[in-house]
Amino acid sequence: MERKEFFVIGNWKSNKSIPEAESWLYEFHTLLQKKSIPDTTKVILCPSFIHLAPIGKLIRELNLPVELCVQNVSSFSSGAYTGEVNAQQVKDLVSYGLIGHSERRKYFQETDYLLEQKVLQLKGAGIEPIYCVQNDQQSFPEECTFIAYEPVWAIGTGTPDKPENANRVTTLLKSRAKKPIQVIYGGSVTDMNVSQYFRQTDIDGVLPGGASLKAESFYRLIQNACL
Ligand code: PGA
Repeated sequence: MERKEFFVIGNWKSNKSIPEAESWLYEFHTLLQKKSIPDTTKVILCPSFIHLAPIGKLIRELNLPVELCVQNVSSFSSGAYTGEVNAQQVKDLVSYGLIGHSERRKYFQETDYLLEQKVLQLKGAGIEPIYCVQNDQQSFPEECTFIAYEPVWAIGTGTPDKPENANRVTTLLKSRAKKPIQVIYGGSVTDMNVSQYFRQTDIDGVLPGGASLKAESFYRLIQNACL
């Protein structure tokens, strides 16, 4: 059977110093000497802003098949917005941008309107938005062709959504979109349950948070996905 393309996107959230992030990459590189990443699996990491440049450099030096995704971006372009990092500033460092994660909505009061501005900023910089929704009812900007279904109750709780239900939501989201979209699932994905999501017909990948923090568990998750 032909293997489908499958995304494994590690969300480090607000974790790791620069030396810790670098050690993670060295360890990951060593693990990949045992068994490389399957050709059909696309590995993406979402580290904090401070990591994008040094991690990007190390990824190139170690020749790792890993792309980067920014966890957040300003809703404005460049200018007098103290503390913000805009899409144009990171466009040479990342291919993807995570938008609308439930933690951003909850702790930083991000609204649908603001998120749409962020999507436009990313698109304008040639960065692919990965737009998070929490259920099958939530809308997403029509420019978005990459969606992450992440039920709030499953994030960081150890209680993932059932693979069959995640697939049902994914199918619904795909049927609502005006053009073909990719949908991944996130919420307590681990090396132990990832293959169940891989086997679902409509799920195009996973977005592990906690399980991406250690190189070893992330490596296992990647290898177990398509078992
Ligand atoms: P979790 O986080 O894997 O730790 O549940 C997922 C996410 O928030 O993206």
